[in-house]
Amino acid sequence: MIKPDAVANNHIGPILAKMNEAGFRIVAMKYTRLTPEMAGRFYEVHKERPFYGELCEYMSSGPIVAAILEKENAVADFRKLIGATDPSKAEPGTIRALFAKSIAANAVHGSDSDENAMIEGSFFFAQTERF
Ligand code: RTP
Ligand code: MG
Repeated sequence: MIKPDAVANNHIGPILAKMNEAGFRIVAMKYTRLTPEMAGRFYEVHKERPFYGELCEYMSSGPIVAAILEKENAVADFRKLIGATDPSKAEPGTIRALFAKSIAANAVHGSDSDENAMIEGSFFFAQTERF
């Protein structure tokens, strides 16, 4: 997902270019906006964390780009490409180092396991929307 801060700051194009350059294939893509309720469901695993309310508010604050990306070793390689959650700790050249504003508004989301990638893909896309 390209998060609201990156969309608002016109970083969609450069972020998609980074994904393409790193060898990811786009299977599905959508420009949409989460309601606070949808953001709450998407990040349900963080329900008990102190930043959950702020996270749901932020993730529903503007449009996002949702996508399913495909590649060998996709989860690990995508997390390497996006960098650490806190952009001040992200490796130079990573998407978060280049485009993120803060630990909360950190430009992109990446799935943390193959299992969650399946769940998150189904959150946004029907089978007929995947190519
Ligand atoms: P993501 O799930 O969005 O790809 O991020 P991540 O794995 O790198 O980090 P995670 O621990 O899963 O946290 C999810 C998102 O919650 C926000 N967050 N805010 N204020 C804070 O201390 C804080 N910590 C995390 C970030 O938007 C983070 O990406
Ligand atoms: Mg995460």
